Amino acid sequence: MSVKELKITKLDKSFGVVVDNIASDKSISHRCAMFSLLSDKPSYIKNFLRGEDTMDSLKIAALLGAMIEDDGETIKITPPKELKEPSDILDCGNAGTGMRLYAGLLAGIDGSFVLTGDKYLRSRPMKRVTDPLRSIGAKIDGREDGNKAPLHIRGGKLKSFKYHSPIDSAQVKSALILAGIKGDEKSYYKEDLLSRDHTERMLNGMGAKIITNEDGWIEINPLTSPLNPLNLTVPADPSSAFFFAVAAAIIPNSKITLKNITLNPTRIEAYKILEKMGAKITYIEQENLYEPIGDIVVEYASLQGVEVSENIAWLIDELPALSIAMAVASGESYVRNAKELRVKESDRISSVVNNLALCGVDFEEYEDGYKIFGGKGLKKATINSNGDHRIAMSFAIAGLLCGMDIEDTACIDTSFPNFVEILELLKD
Ligand code: S3P
Repeated sequence: MSVKELKITKLDKSFGVVVDNIASDKSISHRCAMFSLLSDKPSYIKNFLRGEDTMDSLKIAALLGAMIEDDGETIKITPPKELKEPSDILDCGNAGTGMRLYAGLLAGIDGSFVLTGDKYLRSRPMKRVTDPLRSIGAKIDGREDGNKAPLHIRGGKLKSFKYHSPIDSAQVKSALILAGIKGDEKSYYKEDLLSRDHTERMLNGMGAKIITNEDGWIEINPLTSPLNPLNLTVPADPSSAFFFAVAAAIIPNSKITLKNITLNPTRIEAYKILEKMGAKITYIEQENLYEPIGDIVVEYASLQGVEVSENIAWLIDELPALSIAMAVASGESYVRNAKELRVKESDRISSVVNNLALCGVDFEEYEDGYKIFGGKGLKKATINSNGDHRIAMSFAIAGLLCGMDIEDTACIDTSFPNFVEILELLKD
């Protein structure tokens, strides 16, 4: 990943645009690459996210024996009869989702596997998956007693389990589901707040039996035969679209229509908060393929401060962009119960508040969040993304109001390669 710079100039006008090329959903694309390995027939994926993170997951599928054919539109993934022990390390790049889900998938497969990633991923905590996987018999080691990659997995037979997760994390849940379906008996998993549920929806769509009971326990039934293949068009990513939702909400008299977004309720909470701040938002469901998919229309309004302390797992990825809206909104806003932000692609609490401070915004920092004193205007600054795609893109959106020089922006390619192209569209 090379280091690049982005110079954003102030947008002196309103915009009204329809955007139909928001980056495809990252979570669903990762899962397409991985889950296609659980079938015995080829999967066909349209609109796969061609970002670095998800292409890394696809490369790993190939190293495990899958045949990947790409005609530029559809990616055909033909799984091997049996996953093979790779002759090299498996590089997840910048992707926590890649590493944590593959850890769960590979823990139940015979063979030796090494998962690694870039310097940012190698500094992120992995015990949240390695601990529960070890407790069901997985042989996993890594730096700091299995907390930091590179991780070495010696896959094999796993025990069934009943695990109440201390964190609401779709990555942990998915890793455990992927381990559980390889078992001989039912396993059970519980989280306090339902985290994004693409894994349950997609695997069930492929023929698995993963049942969320009324008491919150997820019943994971072992696979008795290979799953049906996937045949889907990946919808656009609501967390990528959200940068432009914020742009429309803060640039006077602007309006944006964001097309073909997943409207999965576990993914659109940030839009609900933006609505609470005063923005006018309409959701138009168009179809349902594993999940509801449709358009989101966002219109400018004079925003008011807001308090965010609930349903954090449903908006965790959007908090950096939401903090820009909070800085613009009049009055105080705060985010609490969001300690998870500290272990994302960067420490997002410190990345957000320190960069906002450079833009002249006052704040208070807490271990689990921050308070932003909004409405006093933002000024142009030179900020650093800390290698974090969502920090780079959030401050690019702030730059539409005041101009911004952003250092270290190559990371944008991990999730949203055409971000700058869409940003340019707002100027037309
Ligand atoms: C993801 C889950 C979330 C999210 C990440 C993608 C996924 O992480 O932040 O960008 O695809 O499962 P956690 O589940 O660890 O909170």
